[in-house]
Amino acid sequence: MSNIDYLDYRIDKVLITEEQIKERIKELGKQITKDFKGKELTVVSILRGSFLFTADLCRSIDLDQKLDFMAVSSYGNATKSSGVVKVEKDLAESITGKNVLIIEDIIDTGLTLSHVLKLLKTREPASIKICVLCNKPSNLQQHVSVDYCGFTIGDEFVVGYGLDHKGYLRNLPYIGIVKPEYQ
Ligand code: PRP
Repeated sequence: MSNIDYLDYRIDKVLITEEQIKERIKELGKQITKDFKGKELTVVSILRGSFLFTADLCRSIDLDQKLDFMAVSSYGNATKSSGVVKVEKDLAESITGKNVLIIEDIIDTGLTLSHVLKLLKTREPASIKICVLCNKPSNLQQHVSVDYCGFTIGDEFVVGYGLDHKGYLRNLPYIGIVKPEYQ
């Protein structure tokens, strides 16, 4: 359990509790372990939003795995995607011939993941699968085929557990909805 047991003043309500996140990650980890049995995995975590999800999910996947990070940004400090995806930090190692699992915190417009996917496919991995914590289909502009999804959510502005509001609130242990006056 985390030591943050109060509701932050900017949060309207908790959408997904810490316990629900933990439970779902256990299930996802089991499924991924089963699906990749006998294979080595290259986990590609998309920073910054997926840092907590990656840390928890990779520990629930019982496979030999390498972990690499890519930092991309399309929002900056804005609450709407700019549509321009910038790679701020590329992977440290080659993924050619590897079984890649992309870990992302949220699909909103889908622009970030579709850009990342296109880029990583040019590097000729053996396979690429996608695992997202939250899928928000209401805002989709670019379809992305998701292999593992934690939660499908509505059109709310969510923060916490890695997701930010102008850079803040990533450290909340739950996923919450931001009050309209702070959006
Ligand atoms: C957020 C989030 C996803 C992306 C999803 O990243 O972490 O990567 O937006 O939105 P989309 O589907 O509309 O592209 P952001 O650019 O805010 O960077 P961050 O991960 O550093 O917060």
